[in-house]
Amino acid sequence: MGKTIIISNRLPVQLQINNGTITAVPSVGGLATGMKSVHSGGDSLWIGWSGLTDEQIPEELVKDIDIALAKHGSSKVCLTADEVEGFYYGFSNRTVWPLFHYFLEYSEFELDSWETYKAVNQKFADAILEKATDDDTIWVHDYQLMLVPQMVRERRPEISIGFFLHIPFPSFEIFRTLPWREEVLMGLLGADLIGFHTYDYERHFLSSVRRLLGLEVSFNDISLDDRVIKVDSFPMGIDYKKFSEAAKEHNNSTEKQKSELQKRLDTHKKSAPDAKFLLSIDRLDYSKGIAKRIYAFEYFLNKYPQYKEKVRLVLLAVPSRSNVPQYQLLKKEVDELVGRINGEFSTVSWTPIWYFYRSMPFENLIDLYTSSDIAWLTPLRDGMNLVAKEYIATRVDKTGVLILSEMAGSANEMNESLLINPNNFEQISDALHTAINMPKAEQQRRNTILQKRLERYNVEKWANDFMNSLLDQKKKDHTYISRRLSVDLMNIVTKDFSQSKKSLLFIDYDGTLAGFHNDPQKAAPDDALYELLDKISSRPGTDMYLISGRDKETFTKWFLPKKYNMITEHGVWISQGGEEFRMLENVKKDWMEKIQPVLESFVDRTPGSFIEEKNYSLAWHYRNTDPDFGQKRATELNTVLTSLIGTDDLSVLNGNKVMEIKSSNVNKGRAAMRVFSEDDYDFVFAIGDDWTDEFMFQELPESAVTVKVGRQKTQARYYVDSIKNVRDLLDRFTI
Ligand code: ADP
Ligand code: G6P
Repeated sequence: MGKTIIISNRLPVQLQINNGTITAVPSVGGLATGMKSVHSGGDSLWIGWSGLTDEQIPEELVKDIDIALAKHGSSKVCLTADEVEGFYYGFSNRTVWPLFHYFLEYSEFELDSWETYKAVNQKFADAILEKATDDDTIWVHDYQLMLVPQMVRERRPEISIGFFLHIPFPSFEIFRTLPWREEVLMGLLGADLIGFHTYDYERHFLSSVRRLLGLEVSFNDISLDDRVIKVDSFPMGIDYKKFSEAAKEHNNSTEKQKSELQKRLDTHKKSAPDAKFLLSIDRLDYSKGIAKRIYAFEYFLNKYPQYKEKVRLVLLAVPSRSNVPQYQLLKKEVDELVGRINGEFSTVSWTPIWYFYRSMPFENLIDLYTSSDIAWLTPLRDGMNLVAKEYIATRVDKTGVLILSEMAGSANEMNESLLINPNNFEQISDALHTAINMPKAEQQRRNTILQKRLERYNVEKWANDFMNSLLDQKKKDHTYISRRLSVDLMNIVTKDFSQSKKSLLFIDYDGTLAGFHNDPQKAAPDDALYELLDKISSRPGTDMYLISGRDKETFTKWFLPKKYNMITEHGVWISQGGEEFRMLENVKKDWMEKIQPVLESFVDRTPGSFIEEKNYSLAWHYRNTDPDFGQKRATELNTVLTSLIGTDDLSVLNGNKVMEIKSSNVNKGRAAMRVFSEDDYDFVFAIGDDWTDEFMFQELPESAVTVKVGRQKTQARYYVDSIKNVRDLLDRFTI
């Protein structure tokens, strides 16, 4: 087992150079603080940017920088000032960040910064490739590095790569506005496992993959070329023990051990024991809703004036991305708002808002968490929000109230907090009122549940879940690979075929010999295919059957003149050696008039879908519909049909973008077995691409060579990737 390589833009520490001395400052932000605990506990290397540009590092300090980072298990990627501008301030924080947080109007689409983003992602990928062996596991983090997985995959196809997005993935309607959307998706799909904080982000991502790349998605597996990529949600936890232990220690500290900040907080507590501390902590970011929160505070003071002098808002804003204009504007807005409200409401003994604009050491964060009666976090959109979890973890006596925006990813797991819509000032004021008056027992009841959950699903568990899932995915992928009909296996199969005295071949048509068309009639065979089939079917001792769900009329037109053996409509009809079709199964069709109107109502409500009427079955095709919508309607139709057909001898087959209703006693497996039992075959072969072919794979004897086209779950012994591979394989049968 190799090591784990963590890659993110931020390293756990940021380096600074003051008067020729290097200092390492802990990084802020959920990614760095969360992953720090994972990194310190295991055998891992963390690759990222040191926080200094090449221009800021004097020649003589280059080595010392490496040594300083190595102390934190880290290794640097060097970036020039221009690269930081285009990649970090540019594409990452002026394009992706606003777009993924639904601030469409802030998103800038600049070709230059996109080009720099690509080049810098390549630098990160190169740094990984330089350090990684094939046994290592690569874990790429966040929106700054979305192209890295594919860049690594290209050079190391076998290496295990996971990707985790720490911010929301927006809905398709938002994501589609990005000019380089396909490239970004393809970049991510280089990973074996892609993780999100919540199911909603996962769902949005899958929808974009389906709609923009047209890839097959089955539950949360995406099939791409010869790989399967898993997508899942893993809500990130915190280092619960670190926060709760720190809080316990803090509560036991003597007067002398207390920080200056804590002493000030204590003085205010003493002077007004009834007054409540309201805490708000965020990076100064427009997604955090800080300005709105201040407006809401003003609204609250006007709505409930009895709380003037009784509440104090401690507003801690951590400087962030201050080269980006939107952040500068926000800073100005917050400064002005705080000034205006403090000017308007302050009394001799009371300042409503205490405003800190700085990063704080961990001990001071604990001072604030443990001293605040209420934590008030109202992001307009937030991937997770770890501050909410940290606050709860520090509440040793289980008192304290958390007011949390429902737009934060963490709201999904923190139902016991007071959840609010950050745009609804009425609701927020009432929540503040409720929080101030919440009985202690009620606070403890809620926090007991929250703490239990946070303690159990902590950051270590989160990281383990992700890594185990990545490991499983790799194993699963290898099972697929072992079943692939490799050139060696093909040679064996071809040899068995050429040495056989009596062979039986079942070959499906659509999706196996020919590609799908929007109009099924357009998928007619080409000359090369006729030539191929002529050669195989004329080989002495070979019984070749085209076996299909198609209607017999179409196959009569296409293949009867060629005298191929054919089984159509999944086994209702058979034609051998150029004879007219005859029925292989006795099937009823009186049910069709009852089912037809149901399908018609679905056609009316699902643009692009249509009904194909066969002699003994009805098929509803939805290949031309919007993929998500079509899938939804198919699920709905399945439910309707299942309840309708009840005890009738009918079954619903879910094919490739088609649902077919037909008699239960008809399927390709049964038909194939009837033919098989008519002679003594020493070589049996069946190939097909969809669900309906699975009946053949199941029914035919174990010695049969069964081949699936595509990488979905199958009962077949082997698989090939594409129609082209099918033709290559069949070509070998003609030599
Ligand atoms: P984001 O990742 O968007 O910044 P999160 O709430 O998920 O938001 O994570 C913020 C992290 O930064 C938390 O782990 C928190 O402890 C840390 N943090 C927040 N404010 C400060 C601060 N003033 N000084 C130091 N660390 C901070
Ligand atoms: C969020 C992002 C992280 C980022 C952090 C701090 O948590 O998901 O990727 O590191 O904010 O932002 P910064 O731009 O300072 O790295």
